[in-house]
Amino acid sequence: MQPILNAETVSIYYGPKRAVNEVSLSILPNTVNALIGPSGCGKTTFLRAINRMHDVTPGAKVTGKITLDGQDIYASDMDPVAVRRRIGMVFQKPNPFPTMSVYDNVASGLRLSGVTNKSYLDQIVERSLRQAALWDEVKDRLKSPATGLSGGQQQRLCIARALAVEPEVLLMDEPTSALDPASTSRIEDLLATLKKDVTILIVTHNMQQAARVSDTTSFFLNGDLVENGVTADIFTNPKDERTEAYVTGRFG
Ligand SMILES: Nc1ncnc2c1ncn2[C@@H]1O[C@H](COP(=O)(O)OP(=O)(O)O)[C@@H](O)[C@H]1O
Ligand SMILES: [Mg+2]
Repeated sequence: MQPILNAETVSIYYGPKRAVNEVSLSILPNTVNALIGPSGCGKTTFLRAINRMHDVTPGAKVTGKITLDGQDIYASDMDPVAVRRRIGMVFQKPNPFPTMSVYDNVASGLRLSGVTNKSYLDQIVERSLRQAALWDEVKDRLKSPATGLSGGQQQRLCIARALAVEPEVLLMDEPTSALDPASTSRIEDLLATLKKDVTILIVTHNMQQAARVSDTTSFFLNGDLVENGVTADIFTNPKDERTEAYVTGRFG
């Protein structure tokens, strides 16, 4: 099977400081991939390179090559906005558009790309909210402000908003670390169904979460990708002693 996403000797700099060192990583379609490692090891920096978020960080520079379906996402004829439509992102803190309703949040991406047909928008909003396991909770309050939802609901709304434009890849940066255990567990359950439609990269500090939700795990340390492999192997039979130290809780 061909990887959907491929990183080849990717380094990322903030000014002169290198935060990610020559990382190479292949991701197969319809899988969940966990990125783990201690704070400051470069997980967020690496994730943001995948949908060209560093384009808008002054002083940041990405070298090496990242391909999506074999296409170089940093090629000069690649539109970063189009890349971000194909590779969506969900952040640690739920960030619904605060002045918009539940419905308008989910419809925002399609409207930005020029869709105005109401019945089509209705259909996509419902589909996306169902995919994010939120429809039943909000179907009677679609016109209410998104900020009236609980934290866990807001995060599922952000997932629905990301899914509405049918991305191929979804990047999730510690998506449950601001949520209570019940909301966390709803989102973890969701990932197993979502991966039928979208390939997922999830940063997590929670080892149990990585073990529960992911097919493959990548362990980062000081900007290096130390080890990457099938999740069960990383947790029970790591090749590198630094991986073992981290997954057994001896540092980090
Ligand atoms: N905008 C930035 N400017 C300068 N340095 C940054 C910036 N963002 C992150 N860093 C640095 O890059 C390194 C990796 O950070 P980050 O990717 O956020 O780590 P993680 O997500 O694994 O906690 C850290 O040393 C951090 O201080
Ligand atoms: Mg981070």
